[in-house]
Amino acid sequence: MITPTTIADAQATNGKASGQPSGGINGAYGTCAFRPGLEGIPAVQSSISYVDGKQGILEYRGIPIDDLAHRGTFLETAYLLIWGQLPTTEQLESFSHDIQYHRRLKFRIRDMMKCFPESGHPMDALQASAAALGLFYSRRALLDPEYIRAAVMRIIAKIPTMVAAFQMIRKGNDPIQPRDDLGYAANFLYMLNEQKPDPIEAKIFDACLTLHAEHTINASTFSALVTASTMTDPYAVIASAVGTLAGPLHGGANEEVVSMLDEIGSVDNVKAYVDDRVSCRQKIMGFGHRVYKVKDPRACILQKMAEQLFDKLGRDRRYDIALEVEKVVEDRLGHKGIYPNVDFYSGLVYKRLGIPDDLFTPVFAIARVAGWLAHWREQLEENRIFRPTQVYTGAHQLPYIPIEERG
Ligand code: ACO
Repeated sequence: MITPTTIADAQATNGKASGQPSGGINGAYGTCAFRPGLEGIPAVQSSISYVDGKQGILEYRGIPIDDLAHRGTFLETAYLLIWGQLPTTEQLESFSHDIQYHRRLKFRIRDMMKCFPESGHPMDALQASAAALGLFYSRRALLDPEYIRAAVMRIIAKIPTMVAAFQMIRKGNDPIQPRDDLGYAANFLYMLNEQKPDPIEAKIFDACLTLHAEHTINASTFSALVTASTMTDPYAVIASAVGTLAGPLHGGANEEVVSMLDEIGSVDNVKAYVDDRVSCRQKIMGFGHRVYKVKDPRACILQKMAEQLFDKLGRDRRYDIALEVEKVVEDRLGHKGIYPNVDFYSGLVYKRLGIPDDLFTPVFAIARVAGWLAHWREQLEENRIFRPTQVYTGAHQLPYIPIEERG
């Protein structure tokens, strides 16, 4: 339970406890509330996306996510997020062409990736590779629209190639070259599985990318914004966001959902599993959200897509377990607003598409790059370096004890 503490209160308490002057924060901040995790504190003004956590609404630039996922494509959505409006036919053709042109990796980046340990997590490989782009495209011309346009293209184009390349390299193979005749989503699945995907698989994967493309100021986007605010290059911005997305409380949850479903093993074991977790106050992966207090609208869409895929490719027994988990968790925790989030069904969809478990989060990153870049651009338009404050809880004016006298 979060109890907001005013900075003034905390400083006063701290000052009294230590008998020392509190220092650090001046009176101008005296009315600010300290909220762990900055919950509910606006970090930016933004027109990129909107979430209503009580009604389960998500919009990108004002357009409902359901329409974009079903009627649009990921590249159209990325264009919308980054440049602020849906592209015309010519704009989309030119955007798609530029992205296709930039898909290949420099051989030195591929060689660098060949030196990564095979046992390393693909998110670490992606973070390192994204950061390395900054070495190859190092000009930092943040006021030049052409530099910004080229960086956007390069990042959207190369991130999927990097994810697929590391997968091939760690299996001991050479990376598969992108295919110009395939769209963005289909090309990624091709580079991963060495096989052209069925159009329905490509369409569903493309929609998954759209669903994951943006979600207001979550942890990784905040990380991107903080990095962007120092006016560093966009490759560092993306690398820092990838590092943040990697954690199990954020993008890493869908990988854990699949292992949880495997651990449960059968529908009959669900109730005991959930009861045990709840009584030990342990989190159930794929449930709960800082903003949504109803079922995440993306989880609703993904669930339907999972069913479509199972109709085509055969049912996954994990899906029956997942349905039962959802039912039992809703019974036990629904009153707290704990419902499936986007990660609950995405792992099942990815599994059916032949994506290895530890690539689920890199796939999330492929999609979220669009949102990170949109926020990077927005931050540059009215930049002010992030410099929050703190509530100091330590001591003051302690004596320096020489090393030989320390106990
Ligand atoms: N399982 C069981 N209980 C939960 C869960 C869960 N998954 N999530 C929250 N709760 C409970 C907490 O125990 C807490 O109960 P209490 O008030 O009795 O102490 C209450 O709900 C509030 O939980 P917080 O952790 O304070 O909520 P917060 O908003 O900080 O956390 C978060 C949100 C991190 C997503 C959390 O729900 C969680 O850890 N979920 C599991 C991991 C997960 O699925 N992450 C993916 C999120 S979506 C994304 O990042 C793309």
